[in-house]
Amino acid sequence: MIALFDSGYGGLTVLKPILKALPEYDYIYLGDSARVPYGNRSPEMIKKFTEEAVEYLFKRGAKVIIIACNAVSSVALRHVQQKYLKGAEEHDRKILGVVIPMAEEVVKTTKNGRVGLIGTRATVNSKVYDKEIAKLSDKIKLYSQATPLLVPLIEEDYHKEPEAITILKKYLKPLKSYNIDTLILGCTHYPLMLKAITRTMGKKVKVLQSGDLTAKSLKSYLVRHPEIENKLTKGKSLTILTTDDPSKFKTFTEKHFGMKIKMPEKVDLA
Ligand code: DGL
Repeated sequence: MIALFDSGYGGLTVLKPILKALPEYDYIYLGDSARVPYGNRSPEMIKKFTEEAVEYLFKRGAKVIIIACNAVSSVALRHVQQKYLKGAEEHDRKILGVVIPMAEEVVKTTKNGRVGLIGTRATVNSKVYDKEIAKLSDKIKLYSQATPLLVPLIEEDYHKEPEAITILKKYLKPLKSYNIDTLILGCTHYPLMLKAITRTMGKKVKVLQSGDLTAKSLKSYLVRHPEIENKLTKGKSLTILTTDDPSKFKTFTEKHFGMKIKMPEKVDLA
């Protein structure tokens, strides 16, 4: 089974392209809606929540866990990889994040070397994108902007309202003055505001999101690692888990992702 984990709805923007690219497997999606947003919390708290989620998903039979959340990938990915993939477990299961595929794409995309990043406080403060991009190129200047109100607006299904668009424009204004040619959506929730973001940034700015990039990188990972791929069950099933109201999760998913889903299961991670 392949599992995806996010603090809420954001990871669904990664799940959708993965289902399209690799439809044959069984999937489980966990949204920790009861504790969203993660991005305004301390790294210690994010690590603790991530440990709970990862332990739970391995118990449910996951062999690959995609951390479909930038905040978690930024501050807790290495921590859970070191804690849960020790010794023999290293060849038995895998935990992957969303940051490295994005950093690789940034280097391929930018022409003028001026790149913007929007993300939660946890992601921006971690400087993970600065570090990963610097490993690949010394010619890129990254301009980061924390946008902490966007996840709560999206989780409340308020992100298409004029007030939300006003907040978004205010966040993007400094980035517009830096003459960037590429913008990283450093949060998997933000593709839900993609139209408003691209409209605000203008045609000259290429907006990058994690979904397709992560799907492509997972596909190539499974080809390179048959020892993991062989362990994945192929039943085309999708189970959605949430730590909060399942019917709210179902309504949001069906409204914004155009997919019909079974009633999510409510789970308790703590
Ligand atoms: N989707 C998460 C991300 O990519 C949102 C984090 C949060 O809950 O604040 O960063």
